[in-house]
Formats: sequence, structure tokens, C-alpha cells
Amino acid sequence: MSIEPDIHTTPPQLFPLGQTTRMSDFSLTDKVALVTGAGRGLGLTLTEALLEAGAKVYALDYLKEPTLEFIDVQQRTKILGTELQYRCIDVRNTELLNAVIEDIANHEGRLDGLVAAAAIQQETSALEYSANDSNALLEVNVTGVFMTAQAVAKQMIRFGNGGSIALVASMSGTVVNRGLICPIYNASKAAVIQLARNLAAEWGQYKIRVNTLSPGYTLTSMLEMLFVEYPERREQFAKENMLGRLSHPEEYRGATVFLLSNASSFMTGSDLRIDGGHAAW
Ligand SMILES: NC(=O)c1ccc[n+]([C@@H]2O[C@H](COP(=O)([O-])OP(=O)(O)OC[C@H]3O[C@@H](n4cnc5c(N)ncnc54)[C@H](O)[C@@H]3O)[C@@H](O)[C@H]2O)c1
Repeated sequence: MSIEPDIHTTPPQLFPLGQTTRMSDFSLTDKVALVTGAGRGLGLTLTEALLEAGAKVYALDYLKEPTLEFIDVQQRTKILGTELQYRCIDVRNTELLNAVIEDIANHEGRLDGLVAAAAIQQETSALEYSANDSNALLEVNVTGVFMTAQAVAKQMIRFGNGGSIALVASMSGTVVNRGLICPIYNASKAAVIQLARNLAAEWGQYKIRVNTLSPGYTLTSMLEMLFVEYPERREQFAKENMLGRLSHPEEYRGATVFLLSNASSFMTGSDLRIDGGHAAW
């Protein structure tokens, strides 16, 4: 596809030298964002970061009820002067996904950002993996992410303001994890990294930016569940990066606000890998 060069317009908002407010580039005030997989774990922490940057956030997750941690974050929005809403939805249900996202956009009169964090993991060797299990994982991690981004992009295009989409991939989309046998999870994350490049190429003309965030090992329930079965991996995984430790969800807050805000206004089709140097070693 050839895109008409946009030589006459400026970026969404430029902040020249001499500002009297504090780093407005990172502000998400008055923006509306969606986060999938926001019921717990990394998605919830990233949701909190967007709220603190000023956004109103809609959390989408297939957990029937939001977790206690979620309710805690929701209560703190009063202090922040913003709002956090929960919608129970499975990203595999494309029809409902589109209906819910259109409804949110209609209600808000806009839609500015998406963080797609919903994903599942399965550890099975390549010789034992069944076609059913492979399809089930790809349905959530690739098709679910794609359909969420598509539903959001349709609304961004309808309102004409553009927006920013951050798909949560993983360092596992770039390297093979030593001692963690999950070929299809890794393939799904590589697919998400490539998908973002393709979406960025197609949607740049609508001023929609699409990037991936690729975390390293992060202490969430996804990883803690693995450590219950294989406790020795806690130390082993930590040794595999240049900082010699596992990461915490909070360490991706700044990157997420960066990706969704004007601070990254010229960034699209990129993978922001934050992994303590794991994949560079
Ligand atoms: N934890 C890590 O070490 C790590 C590292 C790199 C990348 N990631 C990625 O970060 C993201 C968040 O992972 P996490 O560690 O917080 O895992 P998690 O399992 O704690 O959270 C995943 C969330 O997604 C939701 N979810 C799963 N399937 C869904 C579906 N079909 N529809 C709607 N919601 C669904 C779950 O309910 C859960 O709230 C994932 O994309 C994961 O692949 C995690």
C-alpha cells in the first residue's frame, strides 16, 4: 500500500522548549484507553500507570469478577480524578468485543489508546503439542490481540483523531527461553511483533500508531504458577539477564505511558524490548 506523504501537518501535539507545565508530552489527561487482560498481573499494573497519567481506562478481561487488587486500583481513581471501568469479555468473542468497544467509544465520543495484554501460556514440548492446544493458544494470543486492535482501530478511524496501540508481546518473541519449553507461546509472541508492524503500515494513514512492548521475565501470577511447579527456575531465570534478577510489573509503567502518549509521537512499527539485557546476551 502506498501512503500519501503527510508533509503539511504537524504531529498530534508538539511541546517546544519553554513549557511551564511538567512534561506534558507524557500526559494522558482526557484520553480514553482500553486495556485487555487488565483484571490482574501486568495488565492491571499498566492500567494503573495510564490512570496516573490522567487517562480514563476501560479494563477488559474474561475474569467474571474483578480481582481485589483491581477494586483497590478502582477506588484510588477518585484521588486521581479519573475513572476505571470493568467489562467482562473474552477476547475470542469477536462479535461481543466489537459491540463492547463500539459502545465505549460511543459513550465517550472518542477512543485514544489500547494496551492489549490478554494472553495465555502453555508449557509443552514441540513433539507432544496437539493441534487443538496450539490453535487454542494462538486464538487468544494472536487472533484475540488482532481482533481487539481491529475493533479499536475501527473506532479510532470513525472519530478521526488517530490513536496509539501497544500490543504486549515478550522477549520470547525474539529469543528461545532456556529451559522453558513453550514453542507456540514463543511463536505467538513473534507473531504479535510482526502483526504490529503490519498494522502500523496499514493504519499510519489514519494517524494510528502501533508498537509492541516486549517484557522479560516478570513476577506475575503467570510466572509464579511456573515457580510452584519448578522452584529452581526462580534463580535460573534471574541469572539469564545482565541485571541478574527478575522484573516487576511496575518496571513497565513508564514505557506504557510513553507508548500511549505524545512522547512517542514518531514511533510506530517498533518493538520496545525491556528485558534486563536478556535477548542481547
Ligand atoms: N509474566 C511474564 O514473565 C511475562 C513476560 C513477557 C510477557 N508477558 C506478557 O504480559 C501479558 C500479561 O501477562 P501476565 O504475566 O500479567 O499474565 P496473567 O496470566 O497474570 O494475566 C493475563 C490476563 O489476561 C486475561 N486473559 C487471558 N485470556 C483471556 C481471554 N481469552 N480474554 C480476556 N482476557 C484474558 C487473564 O484473565 C489475566 O487477567 C501477557 O501478554 C504475557 O504474555 C508476561
